[in-house]
Amino acid sequence: MAINSRELEAKHTLYSATTGGGKTTAIQKSAVLRKANRIAIYDPYNAHHKLGRKSVIKTYSLKEFAITLHKLMHQKKPFVVSLCSVYGKKELELLAEIVWQLADGTKELHVVVEELAASVTPRAIDGRVGELWRGGRQFGLVMHALFQRPQDVPKVVTNLSRFKWIGKVDNSSEAEWWSKQIDVPIQDIKDLKGWHYYFKETGKPAIYGKLPGARG
Ligand SMILES: Nc1ncnc2c1ncn2[C@@H]1O[C@H](COP(=O)(O)OP(=O)(O)O)[C@@H](O)[C@H]1O
Ligand SMILES: [Mg+2]
Repeated sequence: MAINSRELEAKHTLYSATTGGGKTTAIQKSAVLRKANRIAIYDPYNAHHKLGRKSVIKTYSLKEFAITLHKLMHQKKPFVVSLCSVYGKKELELLAEIVWQLADGTKELHVVVEELAASVTPRAIDGRVGELWRGGRQFGLVMHALFQRPQDVPKVVTNLSRFKWIGKVDNSSEAEWWSKQIDVPIQDIKDLKGWHYYFKETGKPAIYGKLPGARG
């Protein structure tokens, strides 16, 4: 069971763009994550090897992930641990259960979920996965969701993510959808190239940017 409930700030973040749009790179370059002391990555396609100065401790089964995260949460040392090459709805649900059991309001843990759409259905997430977004904040969880199309993921993720990183979109309907969400004209979103993005914090205007090293 998650312990040490506290009134913590909401910091969940989403990264949405078509494939090659720069989502994984945005995680790699994130100043927040480079500074974070505790990070767990759900990494179906084994995309993360290092994050800032920290090497990623890779695990290849849910059991190994659970044992490793448990050990790391009880040490003082900063860490990045990933679950690689394992994915699906049941798998993400189990990962969520493990994370929930180990969550501790006094030990902020960032949880990065790569390719979320491959492991959820767009209907409201009832089980533990949704709980990470709904109730995780008070137990120190900061969720980072990566996905291509907003219609493929549950509303709880788009509604509860205070920070939104929006990169290159695939089509007009996605541009329209994000336009309403982040108050940026449809055409400006359609014009985004790879690694270029809008970043919006709830209650503030969206900011246009390029990832470091972006072409164009
Ligand atoms: N403007 C750009 N500058 C540099 N690389 C880019 C740019 N646009 C697209 N890319 C390509 O993006 C790929 C990496 O993107 P990635 O972060 O993996 O995207 P995603 O995770 O959204 O699929 C690289 O293969 C790179 O060639
Ligand atoms: Mg990626």
